[in-house]
Amino acid sequence: MNTNKTYLEKLKLEAANTIENLLSAEDIETWRINYLGRKGKISEFFQSFKDMKSEERNELGSLANNVKKFLEELYDSKTKSLNKSDIQESDFFDYSLPGTPNSAGSIHPTNQMMQEICIAFNKLGFNIYEGPEIESEKYAFDKLNIPTNHPARDIWDTIWVKDVGDIKSLVLRPHTSPMQIRIMENNEPPIRVVIPGKCYRYEATDNTHEWHFHQIEGLVIDKNINFSNMKSTLFEFARIIFGEETKARFRCDFFPFVEPGAEMSINFKENTWLELMGAGMVHPKVLNNVGLDPNIYSGFAFGLGIERAAMIKYGINNIRDFYANDYQFLKQFK
Ligand code: PHE
Repeated sequence: MNTNKTYLEKLKLEAANTIENLLSAEDIETWRINYLGRKGKISEFFQSFKDMKSEERNELGSLANNVKKFLEELYDSKTKSLNKSDIQESDFFDYSLPGTPNSAGSIHPTNQMMQEICIAFNKLGFNIYEGPEIESEKYAFDKLNIPTNHPARDIWDTIWVKDVGDIKSLVLRPHTSPMQIRIMENNEPPIRVVIPGKCYRYEATDNTHEWHFHQIEGLVIDKNINFSNMKSTLFEFARIIFGEETKARFRCDFFPFVEPGAEMSINFKENTWLELMGAGMVHPKVLNNVGLDPNIYSGFAFGLGIERAAMIKYGINNIRDFYANDYQFLKQFK
């Protein structure tokens, strides 16, 4: 029995001495397994006297339990002090380390282009308006001289919105042109406005088509507004956005709400013509629809794709890049 007691004393001393010099959490864990683990020295000791007579066993048992408790307390206080010194270590700040870069966000290239275009037209004397993205069929088509079943409706592959109670025939606007009507209904000429905004079309996507995109609509209404006013205004606009050297070309095009209708292409940098927008003189029927007398008033309207303008300006060849949220793409426009 004496040998057992001595062994226990030695074990206690040995364990206490060893843990004192340990510094890492890993070493302390090894110590714990070695002494207090399921197959550690303490449980080994318990095993060794399990067949003894009960009197001796009880005495040794309580001694061994005391040692076990003592070692557990040592372990607890050691791990606590280790954690504390960890915190102290991390409190130390090394001023010579390089800083953590904090990358700020930036305005999306579509919005940058939109702002640039708005500012350009604002310089030319235009006011800026916005309008609803959910439109009624009346404003999106009928009042723009595109009646139901007119084949021209095919140009605008429309996304229809489910009827809500009495509110029927709603669409996600396929172009910003309905705002021409809203502006003319609510303002007296002279009118000189641009309306930027989001549009939606029921369309398969490819490099030049997205099912949602942005347009900017323009409208000028006054007495004696003619086709050359339109050409000079739009040409001046193109020079502001694309540079002094930009050339512009107008060719016939068809839109039911303008007559004559045109398509404006520009030529800048390379020697190719790229279509920038649709335009034309506001159709007399449209003026009638909003209660303006076509014999007194005339005007022009235009509509351009904002992503398209950015694609031309920055040489981007896939419109889907604007909506992919790829950081490599976006950060070029910081
Ligand atoms: N709304 C036309 C489109 O979406 C563009 C346009 C606007 C054409 C105004 C002429 C006048 O294609």
